[in-house]
Amino acid sequence: MTVHPALTPGKIAVITGGASGIGLAAAKRFATLGLKVCIADANPDALDKASAELGDAGLAVRVDVSDRASVEALADRVEAELGPVAVLMNNAGVGGGGDALSNPDGWLRVLGVNLMGVVNGTQVFGPAMAGGGAPGLIINTGSKQGVTCPPGDTAYNVSKAGVKALTEGLAHTLRNREGCQVSAHLLVPGFTYTGMIAARVPQQPPGAWTPDQVVDRLLDGIGRGEFYIWCEDNETPRALDEKRVLWNANDIVENRPALSR
Ligand code: NAI
Repeated sequence: MTVHPALTPGKIAVITGGASGIGLAAAKRFATLGLKVCIADANPDALDKASAELGDAGLAVRVDVSDRASVEALADRVEAELGPVAVLMNNAGVGGGGDALSNPDGWLRVLGVNLMGVVNGTQVFGPAMAGGGAPGLIINTGSKQGVTCPPGDTAYNVSKAGVKALTEGLAHTLRNREGCQVSAHLLVPGFTYTGMIAARVPQQPPGAWTPDQVVDRLLDGIGRGEFYIWCEDNETPRALDEKRVLWNANDIVENRPALSR
């Protein structure tokens, strides 16, 4: 499988929510590929720990992705200390938020981080990436829940459905931009055993993926030029095929080659 040119030694990656879970696993993997990685996160203790793990390959910056000015300050620092960004992974996320009838503050918090955080990252970093003429990747972390919308955390589901719609729109915009070599990808984790889950469930449940498995799948999906990068293995291949057919029926995957490069 060919290695994407944005994932080659010396390139620069920014990962929001990069201090733990899926984001940290991606940061470590990108570092092993030779990239310089900025982990950007709201949790200072986690940042310190992750920074120590990454060593020289990493720059750790405290950010609140829901705050545009904070993301702009992040971009300034990355530009000054590392250089032009080749890979942006909008991954920071929080759970919960509330059901359809309650908790307006929870809705604002979850939509602010999970959806506006991706908008902020995309709009602050995206124009320079898209206009620079260099190969690039914008990877947005959605969720299976943004597609299946199970009952309960409706605010979370809505935020992730929004990330899906945003990433589709972004993919079209990038594709139609003259000379642009940046592609957008939606990472769609299923149940992944990370901080959010580990805080509630003491042992890794059957069917859950590790963050490293999600990153394996991410690299596999990018290598294949997939737009939707599904992370599921607790379903039969047939069920997965049926799901892909369903998604194709929605004109999303192979039926719309413009979405994948
Ligand atoms: P995690 O809790 O280990 O990582 C999330 C990171 O985001 C944390 O380090 C946290 O400090 C950071 N963060 C939270 N609010 C922030 C803000 N305002 N600004 C900057 N950073 C902030 O969780 P995990 O599981 O690694 O989550 C990563 C992404 O994957 C999230 O977007 C999550 O919604 C998504 N996801 C996770 C699944 C799972 O089962 N763990 C399933 C589907 C999607």
